[in-house]
Amino acid sequence: MGLSLRMWVVSILMLAQLVHGALSWGDDGHYAVCKIAQGYLEEETVVAVKKLLPESANGELAAVCSWPDEIKKLPQWRWTGALHFADTPDYKCNYEYSRDCPKDWCVTGAIFNYTNQLLSASENSHSIVHYNLTEALMFLSHYMGDIHQPLHEGFLGDLGGNRVKVNWYNQETNLHRVWDDMIIDSALAKYYNSSLLLMIQSLQAKLKYGWSNDVRSWGSCQLNQIACPNPYASESIDLACKYAYKDAAAGTTLGDDYFHSRLPIVEKRIAQGGIRLAATLNRIFSGKPKLARA
Ligand SMILES: *[C@@H]1O[C@H](CO)[C@@H](O)[C@H](O)[C@H]1NC(C)=O
Ligand SMILES: *[C@@H]1O[C@H](CO)[C@@H](O)[C@H](O)[C@H]1NC(C)=O
Ligand SMILES: *[C@@H]1O[C@H](CO)[C@@H](O)[C@H](O)[C@H]1NC(C)=O
Repeated sequence: MGLSLRMWVVSILMLAQLVHGALSWGDDGHYAVCKIAQGYLEEETVVAVKKLLPESANGELAAVCSWPDEIKKLPQWRWTGALHFADTPDYKCNYEYSRDCPKDWCVTGAIFNYTNQLLSASENSHSIVHYNLTEALMFLSHYMGDIHQPLHEGFLGDLGGNRVKVNWYNQETNLHRVWDDMIIDSALAKYYNSSLLLMIQSLQAKLKYGWSNDVRSWGSCQLNQIACPNPYASESIDLACKYAYKDAAAGTTLGDDYFHSRLPIVEKRIAQGGIRLAATLNRIFSGKPKLARA
């Protein structure tokens, strides 16, 4: 690549980063959630997912998991903006569907919505499909990541930490972005030679050898539900209060103490998001849970 072309690419990437804004795990977080999920899909699910993926994905679910962030600023997609989160009234550290998801218009409602679209098409392949199931798959996969980012269930008044101005080491930013991107970026630089794939491999190893006893319970839903996002939202606001907002008032400079104590939370949430996305897709597309429900 010639120097000028490279500089051009770099500036486009930087611009994309700016435009990308700050309403969800950054691209890296979403990629990691979906890449982890891919490793836990049953065979039938893999086949169904591949059929729905756009060609540009090259068979990789992770390649399209940031699509809902890419489109949400476009006029025709602006309505999807509120589906990325479920904020609570200020200083309320619990989540209630009826209060925090009015008219199903929040991340939990969206997860139910897109699960139902995929499910009805998969159960009854002869029915007339009203919805674009490629979009349904991309939305579901993205929102399952978002709901695990604690500040996607932050307080309404500060827009889930977007209005809490802090410094991350010597960089001016806001608390929401710290949780979307900065903690992950610092971990990549510090522990993973700036390689997201190395970080994902480390999470995959933890899932196998460290969290192995938790994986089944993370993935399961009560009452034979196909998707159960409400408990994930409850966990997130709890973590937002205990870890994200704590010791991070506006004007604070966050550094090593905050980074080292919060990184394990970020890693676990990414891993849980991946496991739960896979489990949900398996319930939608693999025959087993349908027998159980019959
Ligand atoms: C459900 O999905 C459809 C298709 O994208 C959309 O028109 C509708 O607004 C969605 N509703 C919710 C609550 O997400
Ligand atoms: C489904 O949605 C994707 C992404 O928006 C789009 O590229 C594709 O053309 C849509 N398919 C149909 C049949 O409308
Ligand atoms: C770190 O990454 C660079 C390229 O990105 C590579 O050349 C180097 O070998 C890597 N170091 C280690 C220890 O893997």
